[in-house]
Amino acid sequence: MKKIYESHYIKQLFDDMSSTYELMNYITSFGFSELWRWQCIQRLRLSTPSVVADLMTGMGESWHHLLPKIGKNGHLIALDFSEGMLRYAHKRKQKKPYAAHQITIKNEDLFANSIPDSSLDAVVSTYGLKTFNEEQIKKLAVELKRILKNGGQFSLVEVSTPPFFLLRVVYLFYLRYIIPLLGKLFLGNPSTYRMLGLYTIAFGNCNAVHQYFEAMGLPCQTYSLFFGCATGVYGVVEKE
Ligand SMILES: C[S@@+](CC[C@H](N)C(=O)[O-])C[C@H]1O[C@@H](n2cnc3c(N)ncnc32)[C@H](O)[C@@H]1O
Repeated sequence: MKKIYESHYIKQLFDDMSSTYELMNYITSFGFSELWRWQCIQRLRLSTPSVVADLMTGMGESWHHLLPKIGKNGHLIALDFSEGMLRYAHKRKQKKPYAAHQITIKNEDLFANSIPDSSLDAVVSTYGLKTFNEEQIKKLAVELKRILKNGGQFSLVEVSTPPFFLLRVVYLFYLRYIIPLLGKLFLGNPSTYRMLGLYTIAFGNCNAVHQYFEAMGLPCQTYSLFFGCATGVYGVVEKE
């Protein structure tokens, strides 16, 4: 496997970025990252209370969109393997309004997780797909089928390379050069943020995820946000 898809490499990358990730993510996306999280979570049709997992939760950036859908007596399972990112998730959990909810933070690798079979009403993941290669996306499909209940829903969104030529040229220039420059200005370190751009370029968009999920027997649909600068995939798990 290519080094950049190995878990220790990705963990280190997010540990290094954790002190600036949330702010950089917001600024460099001009606030769109927050809108796209919300749009991803609006795909879920849940009754309350629900049990939902936020995979690759990071610092819990999506929790405030998720908790109203889960309900006061619901349960949010937040999974990530970067201790750096999870340190901030633990801090967030202590604050209002999060402290009033049942949130379980799991410091685990998605591919060796302890979530029981058929235990979840829904799964979301915001910006957690780009660091996966084809084989890992197929394994994710297997995990979604395993952990979701019959009729359980999933909705995932990722930053993507837009299909329109001119927009793509500008966007790729921005990912390759401007974001690392901002990383250097704010962090003194352009290389970690350059990696996020490289993962996004290699990822492409959720069409490939759609193909791999369907090949693994997981029917789903895709959608495009802001001319393809982000794409999402969502669906329902049917079990016999
Ligand atoms: C780009 S951040 C997304 C954080 C957050 N969900 C958001 O909306 O900004 C991706 C996160 O996925 C986590 N991650 C990547 N691969 C993982 C894996 N195999 N298991 C658990 N977490 C993983 C990283 O540690 C990182 O915190």
